[in-house]
Amino acid sequence: MEFSGKTIAITGGARGIGNAIAHTICRLGGHVVIADLSGAAEAAAALQAEGYSAEGHVVDVTKSDVVDAFIDGVVQARGAIDGFVANAAYANSNAMLDHSDDEWRGVMSVNLDGVFYSVRAAGRHMTKAGAGAIVIISSIAGVKAVRPELHAAYDVSKAAVAHMARVVGVEWAKTGVRVNAVGPGYTETEMLKSVGIEHPEVVEKWLEDMPSGALLQPPEVANVVAFLLSPLSSAINGQLVMADGGYSSF
Ligand SMILES: NC(=O)c1ccc[n+]([C@@H]2O[C@H](COP(=O)([O-])OP(=O)(O)OC[C@H]3O[C@@H](n4cnc5c(N)ncnc54)[C@H](O)[C@@H]3O)[C@@H](O)[C@H]2O)c1
Repeated sequence: MEFSGKTIAITGGARGIGNAIAHTICRLGGHVVIADLSGAAEAAAALQAEGYSAEGHVVDVTKSDVVDAFIDGVVQARGAIDGFVANAAYANSNAMLDHSDDEWRGVMSVNLDGVFYSVRAAGRHMTKAGAGAIVIISSIAGVKAVRPELHAAYDVSKAAVAHMARVVGVEWAKTGVRVNAVGPGYTETEMLKSVGIEHPEVVEKWLEDMPSGALLQPPEVANVVAFLLSPLSSAINGQLVMADGGYSSF
């Protein structure tokens, strides 16, 4: 796998899994464009300090005009967008009956609308160019009811974006653009704080359900994303590829 001469944009790339994807792509020679609500410039500066090619932009994926301007700007500056990762999301924490309208809408606006806006914006350029690969980050929570934490809105948003990869992957297949989703299992990032990593009884359940008995690390997920962005995965399109250590098979 190698990405020299390629431009890959990643939403939510300032930390966690998105940041690990940025590191992996940089190590493989690509130019990374990080889009995040906060910390994008700092994350890009850290990559530059390691000698890599990266830039950071403040982008709120819930604003369709902001997302369009961001992607258009990438294409204008770099000549093309070769890969795009729709990674930005957040997890709520609540039982279904306690979800307010605002809580539901807030999750959907980032995790679903944000993915729609950004995949559409990247896809406009890629389908015109006749090349490109898109990876949408879904979750184990999009394919089965996870335990013990409760976050119905998050789960439904993650199922929806996995299906977006199937539908759009098929729709764009003849244009030379592939769209896949990746479903991570429990991965040690800041996000796990909002769903219970600081509570030993919660972590105990997670580890019981992980066949390996261990949480995943962000680079393990990033490797799968890099593969799906690369031509090595040319036969894979419209799929949800689980990067969950077997959690969904258990
Ligand atoms: N960590 C896990 O266990 C796990 C498991 C399955 C799936 N995932 C998925 O992996 C992806 C990354 O999660 P993570 O664990 O790295 O989370 P994280 O909270 O560490 O990082 C998420 C990033 O998204 C950014 N973001 C949030 N809202 C945004 C917005 N409106 N516009 C732009 N950026 C925004 C945040 O600022 C942050 O940098 C998410 O799609 C998440 O659903 C994570």
